Amino acid sequence: MSRFSARSDFPRAPNPLALALARHRALGRPLLDLTETNPTRVGLPAPPEGLLAPPGAMAYAPEALGLASARQALAAHLGARGAAVSPEHLLLTASTSEAYSWLFKLLCEPGDTVLVPAPCYPLFEHLARLEGVQTRPYRLPRAHGFGLDAGEVEAAVDAGARAVLVVNPGNPTGHSLHEGELAALADVCARHGLALVSDEVFSDFAWDAAGPGRVATVAGRALPMLTFALSGLSKVAGLPGLKLAWTHVGGPPEVRDEALARLEWVADTYLPVATPVQLALPALLAHAPVFQAAVLERVRGNRQRLVAARAPGATWDVVPAEGGWSAVLRIPRVPGEEATCLALLDAGVLAQPGWFYDFGGGAYLVLSLLPEPEVFAAAVEVLARVLGEAPVSPPPG
Ligand SMILES: Cc1ncc(COP(=O)(O)O)c(C=O)c1O
Repeated sequence: MSRFSARSDFPRAPNPLALALARHRALGRPLLDLTETNPTRVGLPAPPEGLLAPPGAMAYAPEALGLASARQALAAHLGARGAAVSPEHLLLTASTSEAYSWLFKLLCEPGDTVLVPAPCYPLFEHLARLEGVQTRPYRLPRAHGFGLDAGEVEAAVDAGARAVLVVNPGNPTGHSLHEGELAALADVCARHGLALVSDEVFSDFAWDAAGPGRVATVAGRALPMLTFALSGLSKVAGLPGLKLAWTHVGGPPEVRDEALARLEWVADTYLPVATPVQLALPALLAHAPVFQAAVLERVRGNRQRLVAARAPGATWDVVPAEGGWSAVLRIPRVPGEEATCLALLDAGVLAQPGWFYDFGGGAYLVLSLLPEPEVFAAAVEVLARVLGEAPVSPPPG
């Protein structure tokens, strides 16, 4: 009998919503999907496919942290967004998920801890676990609009804590990190010797770019701790299939340079990013504004449709947010998340329950704002009707 690692023993039993969805699909019933976040499936502009066959695409001359030409193009791209960074402080990976795994290797011994926001996209626990690292949640208080509370971060610090992860703007909360929050967080990081890992994959999708005090990126800032700012083509250009992401390494020069030297060694072990996408990066970044403008129009429009669908006095509400690709709805605790999602599915609409994202303290639904306007409008009409109906039955227990 083969033996497997405990960290690869993930639970695989489907939850009741997944089972109901499989039944719904097997019966061939129509579905308006408000969980669709794949940017290549919702009619958004894509760059010409020929971009991926640039001259030299078949040559092999690897550079561990990424081709100099690609890192220069990226530094120029970030510079145009107000982050003055040096190409030497950037490294390329196949995804931000891969970047996390490198950062956990860099910062943590097996058994160490990284502090992760809750609610949040449910990715960190898996990525950390695969590196033998533990996650410890810090709450984003609802009373603070799901924004960062440095006191909550500090309360979560334990002896094994090595890094704090922030997602800015949050997924799915859409809350942006603000200057005061970053200053308080930097103080906690500096006092406890924690690195800051800032996931900025949605930072080009603040709905009001001029929002006062919003932190767009930690890259290029003089902060007292080691910082890692992560993003990539998945969200910036809507091209998750191309597998290219980047990390900016910052902080006090001595520790930053040590981190880069160690990461270069990790990078040299994997050499993960394909040459064609690195050579095409300047052209792909040139396409990014076209994609981003279309996304912003889409998510702003769909959010307005959602807000407009809410009748005065309704028992549900749209949680205020500043950016990203999702909307969060606060719904009555009875019948609650699962029963509401099942009732919606029965009516032909798929939405996600808040527990997928570790909301806690109330009942929530999470909706993607990316679907095409006609699909979204039809879905919110059903949603408003189902949410407006009397509770079906209280949840068991
Ligand atoms: C906040 C956040 N970070 C990272 C990722 C993963 O991105 P990548 O495709 O670069 O691994 C996602 C994917 O949805 C995300 O929502």
